[in-house]
Amino acid sequence: MLAWGWVFLWLLGRERIAGLNVAGCFIQKLLWTYCPGKEEEFVLFCDTPEPQRSRLFPGNQHNRTQGPRALPCAGGKDLVDVRWYRQHRDGGPVEAIAGGHSHVTQRESTLHFSSPEAAQAGTYICRARIRSAPDVQVTCCLKTLLEVAPQTTAPCAASAPHKQYLLLGTVGSIRCPRLSCRGNTHRPEVTWYQNGRVLPGEKSDSILLEDIYDYHQGTYVCDYTVSPNVTSWTARAVVQVRTIVADTKFKPDIVYPAKDTLEVELGKPLTLPCTVRFGFQRDLHPVIRWYIKSAGQQWEFPTFQEKSVKSTMEEEVMERVIFLKEVTQSDLGREFLCFAQNSIGNVTRSLRLQEKRGVLLFYVLLGTVSILVGVLAAGVLVYTYWIEILLLYQTCQRKGETLGDKKEFDAFVSYAKWGSMGSEDEAPLSEEQLALILFPEVLENKYGFTLCLLERDVAPGGVYSEDIVNVIKKSRRGIFILSPNYLNGPQLFELQAAVNLALNDQMLKLILIKFCSFQEPESLPLLVKKALRVLPTITWRGLKSVAPNSRFWTQVRCHMPVKS
Ligand SMILES: *[C@@H]1O[C@H](CO)[C@@H](O)[C@H](O)[C@H]1NC(C)=O
Ligand SMILES: *[C@@H]1O[C@H](CO)[C@@H](O)[C@H](O)[C@H]1NC(C)=O
Ligand SMILES: *[C@@H]1O[C@H](CO)[C@@H](O)[C@H](O)[C@H]1NC(C)=O
Repeated sequence: MLAWGWVFLWLLGRERIAGLNVAGCFIQKLLWTYCPGKEEEFVLFCDTPEPQRSRLFPGNQHNRTQGPRALPCAGGKDLVDVRWYRQHRDGGPVEAIAGGHSHVTQRESTLHFSSPEAAQAGTYICRARIRSAPDVQVTCCLKTLLEVAPQTTAPCAASAPHKQYLLLGTVGSIRCPRLSCRGNTHRPEVTWYQNGRVLPGEKSDSILLEDIYDYHQGTYVCDYTVSPNVTSWTARAVVQVRTIVADTKFKPDIVYPAKDTLEVELGKPLTLPCTVRFGFQRDLHPVIRWYIKSAGQQWEFPTFQEKSVKSTMEEEVMERVIFLKEVTQSDLGREFLCFAQNSIGNVTRSLRLQEKRGVLLFYVLLGTVSILVGVLAAGVLVYTYWIEILLLYQTCQRKGETLGDKKEFDAFVSYAKWGSMGSEDEAPLSEEQLALILFPEVLENKYGFTLCLLERDVAPGGVYSEDIVNVIKKSRRGIFILSPNYLNGPQLFELQAAVNLALNDQMLKLILIKFCSFQEPESLPLLVKKALRVLPTITWRGLKSVAPNSRFWTQVRCHMPVKS
């Protein structure tokens, strides 16, 4: 059902084109005489310039009663919806010329034929709307009867070419092909077009130019009537005119590679172009080739075709690229030759590959950085485990410290006796508990030191100050647990006495434990003040320090006499 609908619509459309004003279209008859085997183009205009319009005649001139008549198309850019149709010479359907034809293409309103062999004689209809005023839209149409025939009467060789060159800055002329070889007997009036626009002043078979500029370049069309008869055929020829500079007198110039060495990375892919500048030549046959020279032998390197990089009026820059999947050691020993040639001569550029020095530098740099990082890491390690290292060192150095002296205790522990009273709820462990419980547990039970605790090891009943001096003399170390209670309490005497004794006893060393933060009381004896500043101090960090393997105990052990 749908298919039938389409067929119906198609028939209707065909009828509209066929039945429309084709009969009422203006008509022109065009003749394309071509030389077989030569390149030649052809164009059909839809837009009809004023001088040509007098030659057109409406198809139904004598049948005015038959339906509406169309206008001739004119106005150039004012034409919109330009459509081209073709009807075969033998009749048959009128068909639209769409994108399918590669040899016949529509450019703006003009129909282009790329070669005479592909062109078909027949009727070509152009329909368009004229947008002369914003609101008024009129349909126009032009029917062209095209005859395509090979040249038979005159020899083609004498004809002006369809490609003509004009040397910039000189005097020159554009000649209408075929017409220029007809002799002087019959010189018809010629209508010239440049890029689709009529050249009003030009009526002869050639256009003379006093001084040639680049705007003279373009597509020229010359039209002339075969006989001065109103209904006779118009012959048309197309000329492509190119403005050029003089041919170069120089060899090509190799722009890249500019130097004779190139730094490359081994194992990496390499794209190596040879870029060559060719001066203008009307008949340029550029050659770029790559050769490899190795161990006295030379051969051509297979590459892609050369391609144009830049094309101007004066020069043509082209390049040819070789591609290596990876640069090998053997490539470093080879010589790469780029060869370029035009009709004047040839040039060669030789190139050697070098291993990039930057890579080596990079590895050296990498090595240096890793050594630095290593040193830094070692530094951090030493810093972290300094005490352990020191302990080990001391183990070796101070062996036998306890053998020669006549001391009884490794350390005497001094602490504030009533410290627990004020700070019980703040600290989970009082300084008294630290001295009486933790110190013996860790230093005596675990590490085998002998401690002297006044309460435990000294029999009561003696004179306090004498007892203190005696036990300090019998100890190798004095450990003082400092807190506000201690510094303001009676035990401060023990520290004072120890400092005094240590000044004369090389074997007695004092260790301060900072149990909690405190302010130095103003009333402290000067000796004690100085001692607080210089003696080794270890900070008690609460529960963190309880475990026997904590940093606190390590630090304490560090200052204790070495056990052999
Ligand atoms: C007018 O048209 C009719 C039919 O289309 C045709 O037969 C006739 O010959 C035409 N007259 C002239 C003078 O062309
Ligand atoms: C037009 O040409 C035809 C044949 O080519 C001829 O019969 C006719 O007389 C010519 N008309 C004029 C006005 O020259
Ligand atoms: C390159 O030019 C020189 C003269 O300059 C010529 O002898 C040689 O044959 C040319 N090479 C090629 C490959 O054409």
